[in-house]
This record gives sequence, C-alpha cells and structure tokens, in this order.
Amino acid sequence: MYADRDKGAENRKKNAAAMVDTFYDLVTDFYENGWGQSFHFAPRGRFETFRESIVRHEHYIAAKLDLNENDYVLDVGCGIGGPMRNIAQFSSAKICGITINEFCFNNRILTIKKRYQVKRGTEITRKAGLEKLCESRVMNFLDMKFNDNTFDKAFAVEATCHAGNREDVFSQVFRVLKPGGLFASYEWVLTDKYDDENSKHKKARQQVEKGNALPQIITANRAVEAFKNVGFGKQKKFKKKVLSAVDVHKYATDNGQLPWYGTLEAKCSVENLPQSYIATVVTHTLCSVMEKIGMAPKGTTRAHEILLEGRDGLVASGQLGIFTPMFLIIGRKPSKKT
Ligand SMILES: C[S@@+](CC[C@H](N)C(=O)[O-])C[C@H]1O[C@@H](n2cnc3c(N)ncnc32)[C@H](O)[C@@H]1O
Repeated sequence: MYADRDKGAENRKKNAAAMVDTFYDLVTDFYENGWGQSFHFAPRGRFETFRESIVRHEHYIAAKLDLNENDYVLDVGCGIGGPMRNIAQFSSAKICGITINEFCFNNRILTIKKRYQVKRGTEITRKAGLEKLCESRVMNFLDMKFNDNTFDKAFAVEATCHAGNREDVFSQVFRVLKPGGLFASYEWVLTDKYDDENSKHKKARQQVEKGNALPQIITANRAVEAFKNVGFGKQKKFKKKVLSAVDVHKYATDNGQLPWYGTLEAKCSVENLPQSYIATVVTHTLCSVMEKIGMAPKGTTRAHEILLEGRDGLVASGQLGIFTPMFLIIGRKPSKKT
C-alpha cells in the first residue's frame, strides 16, 4: 500500500483488540457527550439538523439491506447502540450488536460506576423500550462466538477499520451470515487522491490513525479486495464482484449536501455547541482537574488530547479529499444453489 509504516502504527496493528478496548474505555463518554449515541459521521442536507443527518445515514444502510421484521441482523462494532436502535425502529428487524468494550473502572480513591459500551447501550435500549429488538453483547469481531449461518444480514458502521487486517473481520461476518445473506459496511478508507509522498497527506493520515486508535488506514480498493477475498459476491450472477462499492460522501456532496467533516470544523452555534472550540477547552480543563483529584482514570486528559489530534487529522484529510469514513461496500454471501 504505502511503504512508510511508523513504529506506532505497527504496534497498533499488532495489539489492535486490546488497544481498542482501552481506547474506548477512555473516550466513550467524550463521544456520547460531544456527539450523541451514534459514533459515526454523516453527510448533511442544507436544511437538516446534525441529529437528523446521523439518523438518515443509518436508515440509508438499512434501506440498502432491505431490512424488515423477519430479519435477524448483526451489528459489527455497535458502540453504545445508537445505529442499532434507530435501525431497529426504522425496520422492525431484530438486531444483535457486538462490541469489544465493556469495561468498568474502580480507582483506589473512589469507586465510580462507569457504564461503558455494553452496559450503557443496554441501559439506553431498556429506556427506549427496545429490548425485544436490540441486544448488545461483548464480543471480539475477530473471534465471534456465533454459530455458522446465524444471521440473515449484517452491517458495520465505521467499526471494521479497527481490525489489523480486514479479511480477519470480514471472514467472521461471512461465516456467521446465512447463505444469500447481505453485509453492508461503511468503511474508513483512503481515496485515490492520497499520495504518500505528499507530507500534508501523510501527516493527516497519521493523525487520523493515532487519534482514533487505528492500526492503519487502507485504500478503498484494498477494502473491496478484502470483501472479495473472503468470498462476498463470488457468485456467477455477480461476475465475481462485490455487489456495490460507493463513496457516499462523494455521492452526497455532488448532490448539494454538506460534507461529513463540517460538524468537526465546528463553527460555534447553539446546535454545534458540544463540538465547538469553547466546549473543547472546557472539557479539556475538566478532564485535567478530574484526573488530578482522582475522579477520572489516569490517562483521561491524554485521551482527550489524542482525540483532538484525531479531529485535526480528520478535518484536514476531509478537506484534502484523501479520506472518507463512508465508503459503503455491500456484498452477498453466495446462496447454496449457484
Ligand atoms: C467508531 S465506533 C462505532 C460504533 C457504532 N458502529 C456507531 O456508529 O455508533 C467503533 C466501534 O467498534 C468497536 N470495535 C473495535 N474493535 C472491535 C473488535 N475487535 N471487536 C468488537 N468491536 C470492536 C468499538 O468497541 C466501537 O464500539
């Protein structure tokens, strides 16, 4: 892909699962407070609120999968379940979300009950009255504990980028899908514009990787290749192709919508307040004070700094057009007949 691999990236790749778990211990609260229950980006219509755009992006993937009340669906890397709940309400499908992160922390001075992803997700699902349709489980998506052929369909929203090797997660999804089942994934990938010789490109890529605990960002072509390598779309009528692969960002902005990174640029407005510069400074000060007095775990302030670096990288890579977090790939597991 690109020759340069910094040492940090190699380590992140080797220890992907453990590192992601620790990362989400520290950042889940920041995400929920600053972004909401869904931890992903979305293009935004000019008369649409931030929240509406997020939900529409989730409904889009549900519509592409043609989800309905007869489907049992896997959400690969579900966070605290925002997309799962919105999609279940939209489609009436039954959804099982998996995430590697469940941690609770006690420090030596205080026992603070923290509800990380599975606990927090389950609690919100119960409050929403959606427990018949949605379930959050702790599970490594590189080593799924489901039987073969369990799910009718599967989706992943900006999660598989955490795998050291995409084939490792896609092959698990392929195994647990029933024959004929569909898998749709919003992938974080580099676009064709990325040039590893360009120092601005390289810096932005490295900031995104570091700030989001990613082992490495792969190219769009590589992600499609990984889909094919594990068997998606290998059916005569699809001519050995994945069903579809499209950059939703390009499609949306070519048709008048605002880019996904617009909210991160955070011009200060009432709606953007949680993502604004002022909120960032307040949060950072709070983190530092809470960590000093033992009310937040060690590393919280550093985690916030890393997130901010990630944000700068995301905005730069979005503006440069070298990266998209919504390269949507949809593949089908071959049915037995063909
Ligand atoms: C950016 S968040 C997206 C969460 C969710 N899809 C959403 O949009 O709100 C990435 C998610 O992937 C999960 N994840 C990363 N590596 C994982 C692994 N090896 N197994 C299971 N989940 C993992 C993280 O715990 C986190 O929930």
